[in-house]
Amino acid sequence: MKKGIKEAIIKKIMKSLNKKEEQWLLEEKYNGIKNLAFLKDLKKLKSGTPLAYLIGNVEFLNCTIDLFYKPLIPRSETEFWVDEFIKKYKKARSCLDVLDIFSGSGCIGIAVLKNLQNTKVDFAEKNPQYIKQIQKNLKINSATSPGCCRVYESDVFENIPEKKYDTILANPPYIAKKEKKNVQKTVLENEDHKALFTKDNGLYFIKKIITEGQKYLKPNGEIWIEFDPWQIPLIKNFLKEKGIQNYKFWIDQYGRKRTLIITKDSN
Ligand SMILES: C[S@@+](CC[C@H](N)C(=O)[O-])C[C@H]1O[C@@H](n2cnc3c(N)ncnc32)[C@H](O)[C@@H]1O
Repeated sequence: MKKGIKEAIIKKIMKSLNKKEEQWLLEEKYNGIKNLAFLKDLKKLKSGTPLAYLIGNVEFLNCTIDLFYKPLIPRSETEFWVDEFIKKYKKARSCLDVLDIFSGSGCIGIAVLKNLQNTKVDFAEKNPQYIKQIQKNLKINSATSPGCCRVYESDVFENIPEKKYDTILANPPYIAKKEKKNVQKTVLENEDHKALFTKDNGLYFIKKIITEGQKYLKPNGEIWIEFDPWQIPLIKNFLKEKGIQNYKFWIDQYGRKRTLIITKDSN
């Protein structure tokens, strides 16, 4: 296809998407009333502020995730694998002890708490603002029954007491710094870079979870980690180096390998 035609098609699609977002903002936040506040928000939307931050929340697996403190906006790829996790354990009807590490808004753990009965979830996050966000989201979603969850302000595993979990769920920062040029401008300008980027080809935290996570797992426990599909050969090399053989990759809604699942040995 000629470059000019392709650009015209993209422009047309973008225009209709922008119209949909405007409509959404108007209906979700302003009940269809075009007042001054709406016009101010519309200006922000047009200059690139994500709709989710303007509306102030998103839906994530039947939960309302508030975004007041500007954590990472939960992504549909994450929603997909968390849903797969929930479906797997709903069938098993087990009572689980889960750790949602790198929690951000808390969307992963809150969805697990709300959708899996008899589950306990601990949250671990470094940014103190997001700790407030997780606590707010737990309240909004009425996930506050005594003993159901703990929230740790923690640099990776540092402040997590030694406890054994059935599952560790992690969506860590995993975008390689060299990939910055391929990240959308609106993301770069509006979302927290500490939630997105890290060193070592984006593998710094993934490697940490793989090596340090094992000691927080019960026998047969699992670690689920989201990553970027191009990182697969690097991840495989690392697993080989560490002698880890019991793992598989889970495919996302677009057919790409997106989640690594490691199972700890039974002994
Ligand atoms: C990709 S976001 C994931 C947020 C959320 N779990 C989700 O899926 O939408 C990664 C999160 O890790 C947090 N983070 C970054 N460095 C950290 C560290 N050293 N220890 C703990 N959390 C960290 C960031 O603040 C951010 O909230």
